[in-house]
Amino acid sequence: MITKRQFLQYIGSVAGAAGVYRSMAALGMLGVSSLTGCSSPSAVSQGLGDGKRVVILGAGIAGLTAAYELDRLGYACTILEATARAGGRNLTVRHGDVIEEFSGMQRVKFDNEAYLYANMGPARIPYHHRTILDYCKTFGVELEVFTNDNRAAFFQAPGSFDNQPVVARQLHTDQRGYIAELLAKAVQRNALDQELTAEDRERLLSMLADFGNLEDDYMYKGSGRAGYQGDHINKGLDGDAMPVEPLGLRQVLGFDKADLWWTLRFSHGINQNPTLFQPVGGMDMIVEAFEERVGHLIRYESIVDGIWNKTEGGRSFVSVDYSYRGEVMESFVADFAICTIPTTVLKDIDNNFSGTTRTAIDEKKYDAAVKIAFQAKRRFWEEDHYIYGGISWTTHNDIQQIWYPANGYHRAKGVILGAYVFGEDEFDRDFALRFAKMSHSQRLEHALTSGERIHPGYRNELEVNTGVSRAWSEVPFQKGSWPSAPVPIEALEMPDGAVYFAGDLTSALTGWQEGSAQSALATVEAINDRVMT
Ligand code: PHE
Repeated sequence: MITKRQFLQYIGSVAGAAGVYRSMAALGMLGVSSLTGCSSPSAVSQGLGDGKRVVILGAGIAGLTAAYELDRLGYACTILEATARAGGRNLTVRHGDVIEEFSGMQRVKFDNEAYLYANMGPARIPYHHRTILDYCKTFGVELEVFTNDNRAAFFQAPGSFDNQPVVARQLHTDQRGYIAELLAKAVQRNALDQELTAEDRERLLSMLADFGNLEDDYMYKGSGRAGYQGDHINKGLDGDAMPVEPLGLRQVLGFDKADLWWTLRFSHGINQNPTLFQPVGGMDMIVEAFEERVGHLIRYESIVDGIWNKTEGGRSFVSVDYSYRGEVMESFVADFAICTIPTTVLKDIDNNFSGTTRTAIDEKKYDAAVKIAFQAKRRFWEEDHYIYGGISWTTHNDIQQIWYPANGYHRAKGVILGAYVFGEDEFDRDFALRFAKMSHSQRLEHALTSGERIHPGYRNELEVNTGVSRAWSEVPFQKGSWPSAPVPIEALEMPDGAVYFAGDLTSALTGWQEGSAQSALATVEAINDRVMT
């Protein structure tokens, strides 16, 4: 019979802090609503943090999560937040908002309507991101379905399909059709006899016929799955309607030039497949819910410029130098610090961290994702193309994506995401950075020209002066969108003295609120464990 403590030590050795935390929650040792769904701290958890002070650097999702949980455990928490708002990269923009980049401010000119907003940071929550979803549940943040994959949206790539946009249902259907046809041919020519028994062959052929919607001779000759010819996409009243002409095999294969196959299977990724959610009214509803609970712990406009591990009379603690609106404040002294500051910013903050920690901070690279949004005069994507939410994809080295809003269907106007660019490739080309380095007006102009390839007449459909752009590499106190691979950074998963590092960069889910929340929970557990021993 092992004790709870031995069990937790064992879990700690195999699963790390997060594992311990989850196990503690499962054992009812923490009153953690986010994991257990129960809202009252257990007897064990109450008073655990008694008298201990924790300073949290940054009021993004990680900082807010840590503050919420530590506060409930009885710790005295303060969050120092550099900007005037909470949320960090969780940023929803609406009418009248002013957002900042190093090069200046943008005022958001969308109409003053609740449904006209854009999530310029996180915008989708996969169904298995339990931590963030459980907070939504606990806090009563209402969710609606977010659509990634939409068969009415488009693929477009210069050099492929005569430069024309191809509707997703067509490309998906034809791709499957040809794969099935060719594989069926190989089977029929006995090319796979080593791998297949006679019975396997029959079964495989039957699977392929269904997979690709093949004819009786196992040939692919088009399919109603791609839609029908005529005025309707479906057959409507016309029982004789013919499926649209398939793209030729060579045309389909031509898409290879655009290096875009990944966009066809994007929603197969575990973090991108249905069901995905978004909070009704904007992603920052999550931030608002946290603020209602821990907003009083946040000191806004408090810029950290020094983090010092100190020891006095055998007691170790942390001292944080900061200024408030330019005025140097008395250093904030606490038993522990949880630092959620992105390493791109942290590396310029004075500290006495160990060499290992510093190297880890200095070497971490961040992606530079860019988003651009416009208000449209009418929902032309719905009215003309029956596109309700989802993504049109275009070249990797350009706007990459157009996102159609997964809210406000059939309303007068809509906010469309005119670009979402991210990612590096194997040649270290950072496509987003090219966009980020343009001026705001150049970015908009570029998005308009590129969008025109997918939606002829695009520019006139949009209220061009409402364009908002967000290049996360150019944002003060962010300087990047999310840590690039490889992740996580081992050195920062460990505390340096009394300083713990949290945020998506210490999780394997970088670029996700789930990673931030999970890392905050693991940190809370690690601190709590240290206090208990
Ligand atoms: N979570 C973000 C998104 O869904 C960023 C991201 C993109 C993270 C791709 C990983 C991979 O777009």
